Amino acid sequence: MLRGLMTPRRLLVAAASSALLAWACLGGPHATLEIDPAAADGAATTAPDGAALGPRDGAASNLFIATSSDFTDFRKWTRFDLGEGIVTDGVHIAGPRSVYINKMPPKGSTTFPIGTLIVKAVQNGTPDQWQIFALAKRGASFNVFGALDWEWFGLQLFPSGVVTIEWRGIGPPADAGYGGPAGNPCNNCHRAAQSNDFVHTPALELNRL
Ligand code: HEC
Repeated sequence: MLRGLMTPRRLLVAAASSALLAWACLGGPHATLEIDPAAADGAATTAPDGAALGPRDGAASNLFIATSSDFTDFRKWTRFDLGEGIVTDGVHIAGPRSVYINKMPPKGSTTFPIGTLIVKAVQNGTPDQWQIFALAKRGASFNVFGALDWEWFGLQLFPSGVVTIEWRGIGPPADAGYGGPAGNPCNNCHRAAQSNDFVHTPALELNRL
């Protein structure tokens, strides 16, 4: 059979879904498009950790919502060792620092693609004592007044190797000890790297890829 021709089964599905669409447009119970208000206004997401929240194929979609399992293997990603941080800046503490990225952007990129994950670990003591932050390129205009399209994370690495999300959103929660969302330190300081899509690490400078 020629490729592209609809099989009877596909035809049936197509017919059924257009009937459904017509019914929905005429005012079925779900005729109104439901927009997740959290995603729309850039507020912190309240979705439970680990839940399947959105399309998983970042390349084919303008929305990527990371779950804790997306970070599990961060120590196997491309790593840049940044040496010893001498002083704390009030948020990132002093200590030996490494930055990890799940996928390097293609040469010539002016922004990091949706689905990009970047982790920074300050590695004092055993891994469960590390200070671990992350950025996820979420898209859909998340964090519109800060690091546009990026979501911030505080992570915890357990001795078992499990990585959990301590907090996530447009900034840290008030009880995380970093000034809370009002004085959002992550957006504020990373705004200085706006020309590099809010990413500070020199090895991740887009115009040097
Ligand atoms: C005072 C400035 C400052 C503040 C505040 C700050 N950062 Fe950073 N951040 C940096 C710098 C500089 C780097 C580059 C790596 C390095 O030099 O250690 C960085 C790197 C990172 C990275 C690796 C990606 C990159 O941009 O290079 C992540 C992830 C990160 N920070 C998360 C956070 C989170 C989460 C917060 C808020 C809780 C935060 N940062 C607050 C300055 C800051």
